[in-house]
Amino acid sequence: MFDWEAAWHAALYGPTGFFARGEKPSSHFRTSPLVGPELAEALLTLLARVDAALGFPPVVDFVDVGAGGGELAFAVRSLASGSLASRLRVTAVELGPPVELPGVRWTSVVPSCVGLLVGHEWLDSIPCPVVTGPSSDPWITRWWPSLGDGEQAEVGAPRDAAWAAAVSSVRGAALAIDYGHLMSSRRFTLTGYRGGRQVPPVFDGSCDITAHVAFDSAADAAGGDWVLVSQRDALAALGLTGAVSGSGWEWLESAARAGRIAELRDPHGLGGFGWLLHGCGVAVADLLPALPPWRPNPASFSVT
Ligand SMILES: C[S@@+](CC[C@H](N)C(=O)[O-])C[C@H]1O[C@@H](n2cnc3c(N)ncnc32)[C@H](O)[C@@H]1O
Repeated sequence: MFDWEAAWHAALYGPTGFFARGEKPSSHFRTSPLVGPELAEALLTLLARVDAALGFPPVVDFVDVGAGGGELAFAVRSLASGSLASRLRVTAVELGPPVELPGVRWTSVVPSCVGLLVGHEWLDSIPCPVVTGPSSDPWITRWWPSLGDGEQAEVGAPRDAAWAAAVSSVRGAALAIDYGHLMSSRRFTLTGYRGGRQVPPVFDGSCDITAHVAFDSAADAAGGDWVLVSQRDALAALGLTGAVSGSGWEWLESAARAGRIAELRDPHGLGGFGWLLHGCGVAVADLLPALPPWRPNPASFSVT
């Protein structure tokens, strides 16, 4: 029988795998960290709240798991200021080759973290088994009971395990930002990306292979205090609304920034991503105000 998980793993992380050989996401798809500095700004606001809730520890971590080219980690390092900047330790966790960036340390293993751990489009790149219904797989039975005869499904168990392990390594908060689905909206989403285009998922290392994240099972696996909200709402709650002001160059700069924020908050695009935030020894209510729960947007079926 074809071993989907092993083939998927070899295609991305084997010796000649897509990510293992150093393909950078920025060459193949547009993610929020690549839009501009605004996501990093918002995450620094969140990190400052985590820092305060932890009582301003001597070292504050920002850990970027599945860091790709390190764009987010580097932006966070560069934009940090004041007391937080002097105590900040930024770590990029990546299976592919590291990128030399000032102030960012690289590792291939999730370290322990006192601060904020972020997995930005990390979980969707973790290979899964694929089954065809009917299936007695325990994860499918629990989390995809609607799977019909002959229908295919990605088994989210490896993502759940990875997320639970990552969250357990944190004191502060852990945040997964990704596209996903819930039990009420499951569908088979396995697909490929190459050079900015969606392509058939061929397991030969020539393309990224991804599938939507089952947020509900990942949240349940990691447990504790968590919320799942939309990127659109979370960014607004962290101060990114994109008002345009001033005149001349100032107006132009604020208009360009407003355009980038609008892209990050577009409910049919990046704004439709889910933010799964776990408080780890910290109350989520101290980090974000109450927001509407995230709902998958059928229009944003494939958004990278
Ligand atoms: C879709 S890319 C996202 C890159 C970046 N976070 C962004 O949003 O632009 C996923 C990245 O996660 C990395 N990755 C997947 N599993 C990993 C793991 N267990 N540890 C570290 N990196 C991992 C891949 O190598 C790849 O670079």
